[in-house]
Amino acid sequence: MYQKLKGTYDILPSESDFFRYVMQEVSSIAGLYGYKEIQFPILEYANLFQRGVGDSSDIVVKKEMYVFEDRGHRLVALRPEGTAGAVRLYIENGLHMSGHTQRLFYIGPMFRAENPQAGRYRQFTQFGFELIGDPSPDADVELIAINHHLAKRLGITGVTLYLNSIGCRECRPVYQQRLTEYLTSHKDGLCEDCQMRLTINPLRVLDCKEEICQRIVRQAPLQYEHLCEACQAHFEAVKASLTSLGIAFEIDPYLVRGLDYYNRTVFEFKSASLGAQSTFSAGGRYDYLVKDLGGMDTPATGFAMGMERLAMVIEASTGKKRTDFYRPPFVYVAGIGESLSQAVWQALSFLREHGISATTEFRYTQLKKHLKSADKLRSSYAVLLGEDEVQKGIWTLRNLQTGEQIQDSPAEIVAFLRAKKEKAD
Ligand code: HAM
Repeated sequence: MYQKLKGTYDILPSESDFFRYVMQEVSSIAGLYGYKEIQFPILEYANLFQRGVGDSSDIVVKKEMYVFEDRGHRLVALRPEGTAGAVRLYIENGLHMSGHTQRLFYIGPMFRAENPQAGRYRQFTQFGFELIGDPSPDADVELIAINHHLAKRLGITGVTLYLNSIGCRECRPVYQQRLTEYLTSHKDGLCEDCQMRLTINPLRVLDCKEEICQRIVRQAPLQYEHLCEACQAHFEAVKASLTSLGIAFEIDPYLVRGLDYYNRTVFEFKSASLGAQSTFSAGGRYDYLVKDLGGMDTPATGFAMGMERLAMVIEASTGKKRTDFYRPPFVYVAGIGESLSQAVWQALSFLREHGISATTEFRYTQLKKHLKSADKLRSSYAVLLGEDEVQKGIWTLRNLQTGEQIQDSPAEIVAFLRAKKEKAD
């Protein structure tokens, strides 16, 4: 038997309405904030990502990218995240000419050859929001506010927003120097990964989860105590705006993020209900990336949310399972007897033309079997069509919860069902 690859997963028909609901809510929030959807390829030149996420990012260092040579000997990769592709789209299509800030969002699969565990997959889906062209602290705040709004809308509770500033190309090298000196003097006490990080990107040692490293990190000099005046002012303005909007946050001086392109504001939304992979949304400012990828000097900020983790948080917060979101076909049409196929088709079409979801089992002719199917599908009503109904041009409608039945013309029954459906929606 064929099996799916490790780190991938299937969405079953009983769960797909849940994922559709989440997608609709995210798209609806995107619309409310004026973010326009973009779509870009899953497959791009590998060097876009290499340059985009950076040589010292986990994705590159841990060789998490799915890279291969295509038939034309081009080195291509499955996108590990969306920001690099979104920025490539922005530059290649000259979106900077629009004369306004670009507010972009995307939904789609990303690929990382990570060690799979709960909430960590090799193929996962991200909702990403990118705001390109605005250097102001309020742009960072807008993205955080979107997360906040979405969490409220989806009934998510027990969420903490962690915030930090990692400075800019002016103040970061000075801090990095101090940090490197400190960590080098404690090198022997660091885990193996961090000894390597120390030479590649010492900042990443700060968010190592190993207890031995954390002990050393707790005494390390902190970036936000070494910000230049401009970064300090930016960070203060972000905090002030969040406070005035009533969005609670915690400063996490060890938050540095696993991708290289960030500067100034970085943030993560975590939920205690997620266990080890507690971050379900993360992002920050990336003022250098557009230029680094060949565009004009353009400030930008954004975040991405993992759909799988978001789904886990929703389940934990609301107590609802993903299968609870299943939306059955509203009506089941039962042809009772032989040669009723035409009548069944007519009924199905009439219902669907009036916006009522309807299905049947073409292979059954007996009421008992039809009712069993309708029950399994969890439909609310069944239209029963026998010889008698066909001859009289009427339908028998059965309420599948109560067993109550009425007979009427198709037009009257459809009007009745539409009213019921509106109430149920
Ligand atoms: P990231 O922190 O790498 O950032 O990923 C963002 C979110 O994607 C994570 O918080 C998590 O919910 C989800 N995620 C990441 N890796 C996995 C995985 N292996 N399995 C399941 N979910 C995962 C970015 O990707 C940046 N592009 C975010 C961004 C946009 N920054 C600025 N703009």
